[in-house]
Amino acid sequence: MDTKRIAGEKAVEYITDGMTVGLGTGSTVYWTIKKLGELVKAGLSIKAIPTSNHTEILARKLNIPLSNFDEIKELDITIDGADEIDAKYNLIKGGGGALLREKLVAISSKQLVIVADETKVVETLGKFPLPIEVVPFAWQRTAKEITQQLKVLPKLRSVQNEPYITDNGNFILDCNVSDIHAPAVLHQSLKQVTGVIDTGLFPNMANVVIIGLSDGVQVIEKV
Ligand code: 5RP
Repeated sequence: MDTKRIAGEKAVEYITDGMTVGLGTGSTVYWTIKKLGELVKAGLSIKAIPTSNHTEILARKLNIPLSNFDEIKELDITIDGADEIDAKYNLIKGGGGALLREKLVAISSKQLVIVADETKVVETLGKFPLPIEVVPFAWQRTAKEITQQLKVLPKLRSVQNEPYITDNGNFILDCNVSDIHAPAVLHQSLKQVTGVIDTGLFPNMANVVIIGLSDGVQVIEKV
């Protein structure tokens, strides 16, 4: 079976009746959301907040009841994917462009469960280009400051030769940083740059990591 599917479907075991749930974005958590749709149809009662327009459309299609931060102050759990995961529960996210809402939902949750296939597990973060969400106005200046800090040239994410626009109306700069040994420190210093909204670094944020393997599933719980 598809290793993303194995991980994604396993995560629903962490969701119980009455929970408020953050729904991540991507092709792995897709399987979690699909399974949740089946469970809701069978009677499971949850309220969910999606992390992207894409996930919202999927959840609506599956009749998963949705809510918002007017109604929900704290989520019980969020299930989401990741682009890289290290042994210290640090993550790179944002490959799908949803990093800002993903982070807002994750920090509003008691528990963050990450679902991924084994290719996402790394010793040191940084092979995957680090996505940074920036304000479109003067993005060139913001990119220059990031260049000075990271000593790499950020690449403006684009689709069909046009800048990729996030659900929040912003741009994304992808940065080939390589070997991020202190993700929390790097994240904090990038946040100081005017024009940067947030980074795809999620330092020490996962509580549970579920890895889909070709011969099963590995569940790692932070103690
Ligand atoms: C979107 C994300 C995704 O969770 C991440 O890119 C992993 O996606 P996939 O499960 O499709 O590999 O951070 O912004």
